[in-house]
Amino acid sequence: MPKKLDLTENLEKYIIDHSEALTDVQKQIIQYNISLGDQQRLQISVSQAQFLQTLIKISNIKKILEVGSFTGFSALSMALALPSDGLLISLDKNSEFSMKAQYFYEKANEKKIKQIIKPAIESLKELKDSSQKFDLIFIDADKENYLKYYETCIDLVNKNGLIIIDNVLWHGEVIDNTKNDKFTNIIREFNTHIKKDSRIIKNIIPIGDGLTICIKR
Ligand SMILES: C[S@@+](CC[C@H](N)C(=O)[O-])C[C@H]1O[C@@H](n2cnc3c(N)ncnc32)[C@H](O)[C@@H]1O
Repeated sequence: MPKKLDLTENLEKYIIDHSEALTDVQKQIIQYNISLGDQQRLQISVSQAQFLQTLIKISNIKKILEVGSFTGFSALSMALALPSDGLLISLDKNSEFSMKAQYFYEKANEKKIKQIIKPAIESLKELKDSSQKFDLIFIDADKENYLKYYETCIDLVNKNGLIIIDNVLWHGEVIDNTKNDKFTNIIREFNTHIKKDSRIIKNIIPIGDGLTICIKR
């Protein structure tokens, strides 16, 4: 077996630098998020965005639902990978973040993104009631509701479609027996639920804070 890679910060920078280049507006969102201080950690990592873009392109994805948009970095990154007749519906309850995200979408002249600003549970119920289906659903909102989001999203995703969930390794704390706080346990329970779920094929990818890719059977 080859030697295991230690993914240091410098190696991550190298990977980003030698993968698909970011657009100016993607870079502007990152700069804006950095100006927010501690909240910048809410944004997915650049390598996660690049990975999602590759997945969208190779899977011929046209319709995406995002649960948790913050200032729009992940939504814009995914929308950029969609074909011109694609659509991305983004859900967030925070109107301040959503206004800023809309500002960046307009700056990027990106018209494929439609925002719904209210608690995601309500939006998901409405989407389900109107029989909407998606090729990819990206879950990255409040961890307390991850299970509820996932269970609704199973009905909203097409057969062979993808549900992708962020933060599933929780800074590596999922395997640290000394960590027994609320959020670490929520993520552990969520991961166990996914592990046991025979409706999907799953794979955890260790980029950013850990992504689970689920393929609906
Ligand atoms: C981790 S951030 C999303 C980051 C985003 N995907 C990105 O990469 O920039 C989580 C987002 O979920 C939103 N959120 C939290 N609870 C929510 C809820 N109950 N309904 C809808 N959105 C919620 C927050 O306002 C925040 O913008």
